[in-house]
Formats: sequence, C-alpha cells, structure tokens
Amino acid sequence: MRTIAVVGTGYVGLVTGVSLSEIGHTVTCIDIDEEKVLKMQQGFSPIYEPGLSDMMTKNINENRLFFTTQHEEGFENAEVIYIAVGTPEKEDGSANLAFVEQVAKDIATNVSRDTIVVTKSTVPVGTNDRIQSIIDHHLVANVKVEVVSNPEFLKEGSAIYDSFNGDRIVVGTASEEAANVIEEINQPFGVPVFRTDVKSAEMIKYASNAFLATKISFINEISNICERLNANVEDVANGMGMDKRIGDKFLNAGIGYGGSCFPKDTKALVQIAGNVEYDFNLLKGVIRVNQYQQRLLLNKLYKRVPNIKGKRIAVLGLSFKPNTDDMREAASIPIIKSLVDKNVEVVTYDPIAIEKAKKIFNSTVQYASSIEDALKGSSAAIILTEWNEIKYLPPSTFKIMEYPLLFDGRNCFSLKTMEDEYIEYHSIGRPTVSLSKEK
Ligand code: UGA
Repeated sequence: MRTIAVVGTGYVGLVTGVSLSEIGHTVTCIDIDEEKVLKMQQGFSPIYEPGLSDMMTKNINENRLFFTTQHEEGFENAEVIYIAVGTPEKEDGSANLAFVEQVAKDIATNVSRDTIVVTKSTVPVGTNDRIQSIIDHHLVANVKVEVVSNPEFLKEGSAIYDSFNGDRIVVGTASEEAANVIEEINQPFGVPVFRTDVKSAEMIKYASNAFLATKISFINEISNICERLNANVEDVANGMGMDKRIGDKFLNAGIGYGGSCFPKDTKALVQIAGNVEYDFNLLKGVIRVNQYQQRLLLNKLYKRVPNIKGKRIAVLGLSFKPNTDDMREAASIPIIKSLVDKNVEVVTYDPIAIEKAKKIFNSTVQYASSIEDALKGSSAAIILTEWNEIKYLPPSTFKIMEYPLLFDGRNCFSLKTMEDEYIEYHSIGRPTVSLSKEK
C-alpha cells in the first residue's frame, strides 16, 4: 500500500482520496479552504454524494484518511501526488490552468523524494508536458518527478459506485515504471487499465465527454423532429439502443445537458481544436443544440399559457441531474430566470439542492418543503430534474392543481398514465396528452 497526497477536494479530488483510502492506501487530502478542511476532518462531506460521508468517517477512524491545509504536511511522505484542482472555464471557453500550474510549483518546491505526480484534473492536451517542465524548472531537491495523466470518468451522484465499477482507468505516461505504480495502486478497484501516451490520455477525456454530449444533442434533435411528426422519441431511442454499435445509454431526450463537465469540456475542446487550426463544426453544433433545447420547454409553456404574468408556476427539481445538490450549469437557472423576468410567481421544490439554489435565486422565488405544497394553487408545473421522488410520484398528486397542467423536461411519466389520470401533459419528443376530448 502507498502513501498518497491529493491536492484539491472538489468532487474529483475528494472522491479520489476517499476511495483510494478505502482500498487501503494512506491518503492526505490537501485544500486551501480551512473551514472545509475542519469539516472534512470530522467526516463531514462538503458535497452531497451518496455513500461518501460514511466512507470518509470509516477511513478517518481507521487512520488512513487525513485532511490538511498544509502542502508540506501532505507532501512529506507522499510517494504519489494527485492533482485534482479545478480548471474553470475562461471567458473564451478555454480552461484556466492557473490552479494546476500553482500546484506544480508547490510540488517542485516541497518534494524531497522521488515522486509520481498524477493529473486527475481535466486539462487540455499538452498540459501534462507543461506540468512536467514547470516541475523540472522549479525542482529544489535532487529527486526524480514523473508526471502521469490519469483522467477521471466518474459521474456525480454515483461517484463512489463508479470508482469501484468504472469501465476503464486510463494511464498516460512515457514512463513504464510510473505506469506500473499507478496500475498497482488502482488494482484493488478491479477496473481494466488502458495505457497510452500522455497526450492521447488527455484527449480520451475530452473526446469521451464530447461524444456523450453529442449523443444527448443528437437525440434531442431527433426528439424535436418526432414532435413535429407525432412520433415517440422514447420508442425511437429504445429501438436505436438495441443496436449494440449505438448502445442504449445517453439517449434520454430532455432539456439538455448541464453540470460542471459537459458544458465546460465541449467548449474547451472546440478551443483546443481551434488552437491547432481545426474547426470542430460538429461539436459547435452540439453546443448550440444544447442551448436551444433549454428554451424549448419554456416556449411550450408560454404558448400554452400566454398570460403568464402573475401566475403561480411550480418548478420541480433544480439540480442539473438527480442524486446531487450541484447547481452548476443547471437548466433550472436560465429557465427560472426567464419566468422571474416575466413576473411569474415561481415556487420551487428540490429534495436536496434547495440550500445551493437559495444562493442563486435568493428571494426571487419561493422554496416549498414538499411537492404538494409547490403544486397547491399553481397554474402549471414544470419538471426539470428526474429525482426518484418526482418520477415515482403518484400521478394523481398533480390534481392538487386546479387544472392539472404538466410540462415535463425529463419524460418522467408514461403517456398512458397521464391519459388515464386526465392530466394535460407536455413532454419532450412525444405526443401531447390533451384533455380537450374529455372536457
Ligand atoms: C460526466 C460524465 O458522464 C463522466 O463520465 C465524467 O467523468 C464527468 O462528466 C466529468 O467530466 O467529470 P456528470 O456531469 O456527473 O458526468 O453527469 P452525467 O450523468 O454525464 O450527466 C450530464 C448531463 O447530461 C446531465 O445534465 C444529464 O441530465 C444530461 N443527460 C444525460 C441527458 O440529458 N440525457 C442523457 O441521456 C444522459
């Protein structure tokens, strides 16, 4: 078992550190945020991620997992240092590498033994070579530092599960020795390891996220055509997905992709291509479709309820996807902003993300403590996140509204159920269930 340091305790860093300690390594997670470190030392996770807090507490108690604000302390005995700091989007869409470069300098000035540096942060192709040269340039001690690209593929909301059940671990390095160490560290996860060179490893990360985003925008466009032709995109996706070459995952039509990865990484890849004078047209289209898709549900609502000013509208689900409280690039943000701009009385409900949502929407919206409270007195409801609590809601609950009018951005319910329950139902890429015949 190895002694490991992880720099940065965002989603990627914290989950990496905790799961490496779970398989027996001694891990010190380093973060500059003192308040956050104090909480983590007591086993409190700063993010909502199923299973994470319990695993943290267990490994802290078993003396394998530590948290500190001091680089020197974390680096002291580390044989391997993981870089997992953020690479936020710059205004031009490119990745801001200031944090990564600072960590590289900190490593160079602090290490006193041969060390392997593993980059988990999503960084543009060529960055690991740059990290290597920054370290070589600033290195104080007479030691060898080898940089390895080891991109992360975990999904928020199932990050712990993904660590132990991933499809592959990508290890990019020119050093066979370093690759052997990283493969050995990860061996207890039982996930296949794919070895390649540094640049290809960096590209695998971007290309994978861009491809998944492309699948989503593709099915969203198909859904828009289905709507015009009265076909059902769910059946279309199921029929397509049975072809193993296509696969049945990531073909759920909806209000587009959000979160901290796809929007940022797709724009960054367009930039990376542009930097080598390649116009990544397809990916530009994917990004455009995604922006357009968020508007479509609203357009349907505005068309159906033309005099929306002053009306009460329930918004169910705020996080960018279920099982996370993450609000970054959530479709709920532009959608709610548009409603508020139209002087709509917006009442929101989310099982977990309310605290984070309050920091964004402040007092411009109301925060209901149950779905029922949100629906009471509302003229229509909009579903933006497919939380189980929403998906498995008895459909009759929508009849709390005087006239049950539902706009579902995540296709949570079957058309048949809505027909049987007499609920007017507008979803994505499927025929509208209207009550006109019954009235
Ligand atoms: C994504 C990738 O799936 C991970 O493999 C990757 O490691 C991660 O980005 C990252 O780069 O860190 P994540 O953003 O957590 O993970 O969430 P996803 O489950 O991929 O969902 C992203 C967005 O796509 C969500 O808004 C979701 O609602 C949307 N989506 C997903 C659809 O609209 N349709 C689908 O069929 C699937």
